[in-house]
Amino acid sequence: MTDSYPLPKDWRCPLDPPAAYKQLRKEAPMTRVRVWDGSTPWLITRYDHATEALGDPRLSLDFRLPGFPHTSPSSAARLERTLPFPFRPDSEYRVQRAMLVQEFSPRRMETLRPRIQSIVDETLDTMLAGPRPVDLLAAFALPMAIRVICELLGVSYDDYVYLHGLSCTIGSRDSTKDAAGRALDEMEGYFQRLVEENVRNPSDTLIGRIAAEHVRRGTLSAQDAAAMFQMLFHAGHGPTAYMICMGTMALLLHPEQLGELRAIADEPSKLSAAVQELLRYVTVSNSGRQRVATEDITLGGQLIRAGEGVLVQTDSANRDETVFPDPDRMDIHRPPHRNLALGHGIHLCTGRALALIELEVVFRTLFQRVPTLRLAVPVEDIPFKQNDNLLGVHEMPVTW
Ligand code: HEM
Repeated sequence: MTDSYPLPKDWRCPLDPPAAYKQLRKEAPMTRVRVWDGSTPWLITRYDHATEALGDPRLSLDFRLPGFPHTSPSSAARLERTLPFPFRPDSEYRVQRAMLVQEFSPRRMETLRPRIQSIVDETLDTMLAGPRPVDLLAAFALPMAIRVICELLGVSYDDYVYLHGLSCTIGSRDSTKDAAGRALDEMEGYFQRLVEENVRNPSDTLIGRIAAEHVRRGTLSAQDAAAMFQMLFHAGHGPTAYMICMGTMALLLHPEQLGELRAIADEPSKLSAAVQELLRYVTVSNSGRQRVATEDITLGGQLIRAGEGVLVQTDSANRDETVFPDPDRMDIHRPPHRNLALGHGIHLCTGRALALIELEVVFRTLFQRVPTLRLAVPVEDIPFKQNDNLLGVHEMPVTW
C-alpha cells in the first residue's frame, strides 16, 4: 500500500508528475492507494501496464459498477444523474459513441482548420489590443477553445463564462458532492433546453444533427443527448485550454526548445511531432484514468479481482524511462511516439483530431505573432489548480 491518492507533488516543478512515480515504476508498478472515500484501487504507473490496462475490455469505465474508483466527491455526484456515454454500460456506450464517430472524423475536423485559424487570430487581436500583463488563460486559451467547441456544438458563445464556471466546479476535487451535483444539474438543464429547441428546429450544428437524426427518431433520449453534449462541452474545452497554457509555459521555460519550435513551425509533420511531445511532457489529463475490473484479470503479474478499481496514471506512463529515453527532457525532435496524453484503447479521446489541430494552430501562431511573449511573474508565483482533474492554472500572467 502506498500513500493516499493523489500523491503529493512538488509545485516548484509544476510540469513534472509526482516524484514518487519514478520509484513506483521501478519497485511497485502495481500498488494500492487510498482515495478520499477510503477505498483502495490499484495504481498503475508503467507504460506497458498502462497500455495493456486501457486496451483491456475487461477493465470498464462503467461508473455504476460496484468497486468503481471514484477519486473525488464530484465523480461520485455523477452517479445520481444521467451519465454521459463514456461512463455507461458497454453496450449503451458503444451505441452512443458510434453516433459521434463521423462528427469528429479527422477529415471533417481538417475542414475546420481555417476557421480555427481565424478564431485564434481574432482572439489574439483582442488580447494584443488590451493591457499587459494579461492572463493568458482568460484572454486567450479559454475564449479560443470555448469558441471552437461552442461553434461546433451549436452553443451560444455568450453563455461561456457561466458554462465554464459550472465545468470548473464539476472538475475540481475540492467541490463537495452537493456543489458538483448542483453544477451538473444546471449543465444538464441548459443542454436539455438546447436539445428541445433543436428537436423542434434543428440547426446545422452537431447538436442539431444528433437531435434530427437520433432524438427525433427515438434512438437517443433527450436526456441522454443532453448528457452527451454536456460532456462534449466539458471535455472539449478544459483540457485544450489548460494544454495551451501549460504547453506555452513549458516552451517559455525551455527557450532553446521554443527556438526549435519556431524554426519548424511551418513544416506540418515536424509541428505535429512537436505537439505530440508537448502533450507527452505536460500530460494535462493527469488524474488517473478510472477503471473497474469486470472479471478476474492478471496484469503485470498481479491478480486484479473482479470488482477492484484501477487508476491508470498516464502522466507517469508518459515519463516511463523504458519507453522514452531521458523522459524528463522535453525534446520536440523526439522520434514519433505513442504517448498516452489523449488516452489509449476504446476510450481514446473522441476529440483528438480536433484537439491536435487546435494545438498545432495555436503553437504555430502564438509565437509567430507574439515573438517576445514571456511569463510576467516567476513560475513559483503562478496559481496552479492543485486539486483538479486536470493540470491547470487559475491564471497565467504573461507579457510581451
Ligand atoms: C488537449 C486536449 C485534450 C486532452 C489532453 C484530452 C484528453 C483525453 C483523455 C486522456 C481521454 C481518455 C479518458 C479515459 O480513458 O478515461 C479523453 C477522452 C475524451 N475526450 Fe478528450 N482530450 C482533449 C480534447 C478533447 C476535445 C477537443 C474533445 C471534444 C469534444 C474531447 C472529448 C473527449 C471525450 C468525449 C472523451 C471520452 C471518450 C470515450 O470515453 O470514448 N477531448 N480525452
